[in-house]
Amino acid sequence: MRHNEGMTTPIPLLVFAGSTRAQSYNRQLATSAADMAQAEGAQVTRLDLADFDVPLYNADLEAGGTPRDVVRLKEIFHAHPAWLVAAPEYNGSMTALLKNTIDWVSSPIKGDPEWRNGTRAFAGKVVGLLSASPGALGGLRGLAHLAPVLMNLQCWVAPKQFALAKAFEAFDPNGQLSLESNRTALHGVVDQVIWAARKFQA
Ligand SMILES: Cc1cc2nc3c(=O)[nH]c(=O)nc-3n(C[C@H](O)[C@H](O)[C@H](O)COP(=O)(O)O)c2cc1C
Repeated sequence: MRHNEGMTTPIPLLVFAGSTRAQSYNRQLATSAADMAQAEGAQVTRLDLADFDVPLYNADLEAGGTPRDVVRLKEIFHAHPAWLVAAPEYNGSMTALLKNTIDWVSSPIKGDPEWRNGTRAFAGKVVGLLSASPGALGGLRGLAHLAPVLMNLQCWVAPKQFALAKAFEAFDPNGQLSLESNRTALHGVVDQVIWAARKFQA
């Protein structure tokens, strides 16, 4: 049964990757997850961090005004009760791109009644964590760093995670995950996030 059968409102689900590389494995994994979520009846928004002009965080720069694209990101994050994040692993942790994005989006905007609370865009979100890597662990160690960062911002991180190992050989020429076992594991995360977001909505 589809998750939304008999229900009124589809879950708005945000899907993005922590890489802007053109041939990014994590972007490909995000696409697979987005397709699955769409098939489950979620209202999917694909976000590409390459579409946002966000400098490296600097409090002096911020004092001159929060960049417009950071405010756009805050609004998009806030508007989606559920997220799927495909996070590459760099040196056993998350990418600077992803951390910088989180840092900006969580930074309060002084004097703005809407955004003075830094956790506003994060609090209560159900977040499913994914990763893809050419390595044997699939970027799993990076997710172990990302999860507490998001939980500190009051996100509800789904217990199921999926780390796609050997990503260079995991996708077929159509960009689909070749192995049934990988599709099943990814589906497990997608389903759990939609299920939990629906519980939160009730
Ligand atoms: C600076 C740097 C550090 C990396 N460290 C790791 C690592 O700790 N573990 C890992 O599995 N892959 C590591 N990699 C390889 C990445 O997983 C690989 O570049 C991957 O393709 C990045 O994700 P993307 O394809 O979505 O851009 C690293 C790559 C770079 C550039």
